[in-house]
Amino acid sequence: MKKRVLGLLLTAVMSLGLMVGCGPADTGEAPDASGDATTETTDSKPADGSGKRVAVAMPTQSSERWINDGNNMKEKLEALGYEVDLQYAEDDVQAQVSQIENMIAAGADCLVIAAVDSSALVNVEQQAKDAKIPIIAYDRLLMDTDAVSYYATFDNKGVGTAIGKYIVESKDLPAAQKEGKSYTIEFFMGSPDDNNAVMLYNGLMEELQQYLDDGTLVCKSGRTSFDDTCILRWSQETAQQNCENYLTGFYADEKLDICATAFDGFAYGCKAALEGAGYKVGEDWPLITGQDAELMATKNIIAGSQTMSIYKDTRLLADKCVTMVQAVLEGAEPEINDTEQYDNGKLVVPSYLCTPVAVDKDNYKEIIVDGGYYTEEQLAE
Ligand code: BGC
Repeated sequence: MKKRVLGLLLTAVMSLGLMVGCGPADTGEAPDASGDATTETTDSKPADGSGKRVAVAMPTQSSERWINDGNNMKEKLEALGYEVDLQYAEDDVQAQVSQIENMIAAGADCLVIAAVDSSALVNVEQQAKDAKIPIIAYDRLLMDTDAVSYYATFDNKGVGTAIGKYIVESKDLPAAQKEGKSYTIEFFMGSPDDNNAVMLYNGLMEELQQYLDDGTLVCKSGRTSFDDTCILRWSQETAQQNCENYLTGFYADEKLDICATAFDGFAYGCKAALEGAGYKVGEDWPLITGQDAELMATKNIIAGSQTMSIYKDTRLLADKCVTMVQAVLEGAEPEINDTEQYDNGKLVVPSYLCTPVAVDKDNYKEIIVDGGYYTEEQLAE
């Protein structure tokens, strides 16, 4: 049944590949955040990127993926001759606003932003627009602004779909439904100020809702809505606290079978809570999902204390984002494969969606090790 999930995802990768192949021509002109000034900047500087400054604002170093994202972006942009100003805001909204103000004052030619709070940057984005500095949204959509030119991300609803399908198939919910069997489940969803989190939730619930409705899945806390399960700033500590509360409040007499989490950090929080409550890997350990396929998560998958994660190849995302930087600075054509889904309240932002892939102990070697993301040595350390 895992093969079916993989098969579906590979089909998705292939069809995405086809869409990409014919994508750019269909997309028309990219909106230019800075009017004709982008052309001015392009004309006054050499076309190989040298002399141009790209400022990259990242949300936090508390999770491994953003460190990889920042490093990949820096390396790829520098290889093209750009000067890179990479800064992390450590999940502090005001710190990110100040960093971006400083980037503008320091003469950035282009801003790449992965927001802490996607709606909190409207004023500073307007400042960038006034200064004729184009903005690319990185991984998280920038909301309520017309200053953004492009968006590079993963298929965020697809992440939720992949997690949902994994749960359905590995617990064989259609069979459980027929037999009148049920599984308990609790939800740990992403940050309410991150558009990705809502999209993931929607994708997940499209797969699971029918099983919640007919009692095949039982959420004993009753917390199934996004509002009831979202966790501000993707906090691992809050996930652990929530899981501890659920275990003591609702699972004294019956085991928790599934932790549907939206992030590897949440999976670590649940793991700690479950260990504290006496659950044992290989005995009564629940199915735990995650996102990002962090090194620690992948090790936990191998050890059995996390069941699956969503692999997001941050090297690919950086590649796509770099083509967008080149597009706004050099007038090149970026690859775009979605011009419909990402409406930020001011415009539908032309986007490139990379394909997320579900990984577990059966396919991590093929996807992660053979794909050169982590080595066997790193995973064995
Ligand atoms: C990203 C996820 C990540 C989460 C927490 C989201 O915006 O899309 O990959 O797990 O933030 O950092």
